[in-house]
Amino acid sequence: MKSYKLAILAGDGIGPEITREAVKVLKLIEQRNDIRFELLDAPFGGHAYFEHGHSFPEQTKAICDAADAIIKGPIGLSYEESQKIPVDEQPERGALLPLRARYQTYANFRPVSLPKSLAHFSPLKPEIVGDGIDIVIVRELVGGLYFGHKEVGVNQQGRRYVRETLEYDEEQISRILHVAFKLAQRRKKVLHNIHKSNVLKSSVLWNEVLAEVAQDYPDVKVVQMLVDAAATHLCLNPRQFDVMVMENMFGDILSDQAGGILGSLGLMPSACLGPDKAYYEPSHGSAPDIAGQNIANPYSMIGSVAMMLENSFGMFEEARNVWDAMQGVFADGYSTPDLSKPGAGVKMISTDAFGDRVVEKLKAMPRVAG
Ligand code: IPM
Ligand code: MG
Repeated sequence: MKSYKLAILAGDGIGPEITREAVKVLKLIEQRNDIRFELLDAPFGGHAYFEHGHSFPEQTKAICDAADAIIKGPIGLSYEESQKIPVDEQPERGALLPLRARYQTYANFRPVSLPKSLAHFSPLKPEIVGDGIDIVIVRELVGGLYFGHKEVGVNQQGRRYVRETLEYDEEQISRILHVAFKLAQRRKKVLHNIHKSNVLKSSVLWNEVLAEVAQDYPDVKVVQMLVDAAATHLCLNPRQFDVMVMENMFGDILSDQAGGILGSLGLMPSACLGPDKAYYEPSHGSAPDIAGQNIANPYSMIGSVAMMLENSFGMFEEARNVWDAMQGVFADGYSTPDLSKPGAGVKMISTDAFGDRVVEKLKAMPRVAG
């Protein structure tokens, strides 16, 4: 029997409650498959700072180092709570970015998927949504402005100043482009390259490297699009996109917009892959305003488990079953209060009841042979 160690970083805010539902699904996957998951809980984020003095404590690093994959809930605190923590220890800068840097998880896959059963959540008109939306945003995750040299101080005129640099080298660019081209090859063979080469030199280099990498993928059509125009097109005609690739900051912003066209970031799981380690997380924040109320939808967390099954353990069919189970719960007319429009005729259930229904659906599906 195969056995894997999973680091479970439940995170802040709604993190623990949606992670609990993901763990229920993991337990069932163990029963249905010839596989064991050793779950290693570890503190990470704002609560870790208050309890252990660091938002990414040493013990958590050791657990992650030893794990075959990492499941991570959202992190972050309300603005007021964040102010109680030194700037560099705040969970985003003190935990999340160091996690990404530690394992060089440069390839971030953010599926933007709205199957028919979820179409009513979208704020877009039905004629724009059509048969549904199915895009993958491939975001470079360990370069650019997020990780460039930073400096704060007082300049010669006595004014406070800040300098943040957007840095990429050709290797960082080509490795993410290869990932995106390979994905486009497996899908519709169209790749939208999102950039800002009319202003940024970083985009000029990005596009030069793209022209070279593209030679290896003659069957993939590249469509060039400026990032500002892409923001508009995502609203007006999202169905023109299949795979979109972009640098770190553009990917942060456009993936939130993509969550918007689905109707909620709660529908956005993600995979963050590095050369030797991968971690899986919802693309959204920790929603401290609704934490502890048992109303957050666990879709993004359970979806992150499905992405782990595919990407870390090659369990493609079981991953498909997990997606189908979740979508089946929506198709039966259920949702959670955070993910429903009033009057949409949705039967409202709690976070844990949603997780239970996903488990029931998955139980009813044929097991995968082998
Ligand atoms: C995301 C988040 C993070 C990011 C934050 C929490 C640092 O917004 O994963 O998109 O900006 O990358
Ligand atoms: Mg973001």
